[in-house]
Amino acid sequence: KGVLMGNWSGNYSGGENPGSWSGSVKILQQWKSSGFRPVRYGQCWVFAGVLTTVLRCLGFPARMITNFNSAHDTNTNLRVDKYYSPDGSYLEYRTNDSVWNFHVWNEAWFTRSDLGAKYNGWQILDATPQELSSNIFQCGPASLVAIKEGDVDLGYDCPFVFAEVNADEVTWILDKDTQSVKKAATDIRSVGKYLSTKAVGSFARLDVTDAYKYSEGSSEERETFQKARDKLNMNLMPRVTGKFEVKSRPEVGQDVELVLQLTNLASAASTLTANMNAWTIVYTGKPIREVWKDSLALTLGPQEEKAFPIKISYADYQKHLTTDNVIRATAVCQVKEGADTVVLKNISLENPTVTLKMPNQAKVGEVLKVEMVFTNPLAEEISSCLLLAEGSDLLQDEIRKEVPPVKGKETVRVCFEVTPKKKGAKQLLANFSCDKFKDIKAFQVITVVD
Ligand SMILES: *[C@@H]1O[C@H](CO)[C@@H](O)[C@H](O)[C@H]1NC(C)=O
Ligand SMILES: *[C@@H]1O[C@H](CO)[C@@H](O)[C@H](O)[C@H]1NC(C)=O
Ligand SMILES: *[C@@H]1O[C@H](CO)[C@@H](O)[C@H](O)[C@H]1NC(C)=O
Ligand SMILES: *[C@@H]1O[C@H](CO)[C@@H](O)[C@H](O)[C@H]1NC(C)=O
Ligand SMILES: *[C@@H]1O[C@H](CO)[C@@H](O)[C@H](O)[C@H]1NC(C)=O
Repeated sequence: KGVLMGNWSGNYSGGENPGSWSGSVKILQQWKSSGFRPVRYGQCWVFAGVLTTVLRCLGFPARMITNFNSAHDTNTNLRVDKYYSPDGSYLEYRTNDSVWNFHVWNEAWFTRSDLGAKYNGWQILDATPQELSSNIFQCGPASLVAIKEGDVDLGYDCPFVFAEVNADEVTWILDKDTQSVKKAATDIRSVGKYLSTKAVGSFARLDVTDAYKYSEGSSEERETFQKARDKLNMNLMPRVTGKFEVKSRPEVGQDVELVLQLTNLASAASTLTANMNAWTIVYTGKPIREVWKDSLALTLGPQEEKAFPIKISYADYQKHLTTDNVIRATAVCQVKEGADTVVLKNISLENPTVTLKMPNQAKVGEVLKVEMVFTNPLAEEISSCLLLAEGSDLLQDEIRKEVPPVKGKETVRVCFEVTPKKKGAKQLLANFSCDKFKDIKAFQVITVVD
């Protein structure tokens, strides 16, 4: 049952062009005579005009405020981010933040028994439906004193109003290959200019910028900005932290089971999306292939911690795992109310083990039996198996033994012989490879006696 419907499309058929209204009375009368159907159409100055009329009718001192270069910060980071590609195109899809040439809202004069006498006086109310606040298009009342002092933790919607007049305008340039962004410019002065209202008793413009903020560039102004960011937990720490936990050390051939643990550090709920993916990498960090991706949308209550199990299946990573056996999991968490967080983990997968067994004592000049034992951890057969063994003072030449295919889950035992030449501690090195595993190594120290 709203009084007025907003429309910014440029096509106002079926209603009035917002610019053609000349007063609130007609709008309120049309609303009543239609049986309280929203009147088409309004934009910010129309909403503010109608609210001024209603407030004054109810006995509240009220005035309209125009803000030039008004920031519309949708994600409460006190920043308006703009993204460009290196070739200069504006990447609209990257953000819903914008700077409006002007925006109009209201102030009404009343006490704030909920906040304390310091915050009495002008209160900001914005009737233009822009952002949901507690699931309703509403904004304020936000105490003007709270806005000037950076007390953005106070009710209601102070971070949004503070950003409208104070946000930094940050330009980012996107690197298309890595999808990473670099900060190109920060303008701390462009937003919130010439805040104006009509002077009492004349048609002059009264500048109220000083009531909203300390003068641009002054140390008080930067301190207030910093204070606001601190209150929104934006400087010292991210609002949400996360980590990947690996359940047990994963082995090549098995599914990698992880848990993404996300913790909300704020004392209010945090809404986020986590875009997760996993890549096989080489040890330098260079990514080879994406092997898994998923995404989560969730809300975490105050200080809430939630765990999300993740499974990267062997079938998905087997063909792309390099001999470095590393998978990198990342989660890019975009937090609506604050700073974004990236969670990253390098997961080293262990090769299955090869063991070397010698039933007898090694003696100089005597043949020693060695048994290599290997269990195929996969459900499928492995083939092209080759065992190499070497050891100085144990073997003259490298031993090469072709091993027949090993069925899924089966254990294979391969025997070979060495003849130690000298006494002392000698090292035997075995290297087992097959189509599914490369370079599985085993070392065994053999004490040789006379
Ligand atoms: C304006 O909107 C009306 C109703 O949605 C539509 O019928 C009409 O074609 C639109 N006009 C233009 C110029 O887009
Ligand atoms: C604005 O009005 C036009 C014309 O009636 C309509 O087509 C369009 O859907 C309206 N936009 C919104 C956001 O209501
Ligand atoms: C912008 O807002 C729309 C509608 O609420 C949403 O679907 C979209 O994800 C938002 N885009 C960004 C970059 O936040
Ligand atoms: C992951 O490994 C890369 C190199 O491969 C390294 O630069 C990075 O710091 C590592 N990250 C973590 C969280 O271990
Ligand atoms: C292990 O064996 C594989 C396959 O025969 C071979 O490519 C690799 O170089 C060997 N590694 C060592 C350390 O001998």
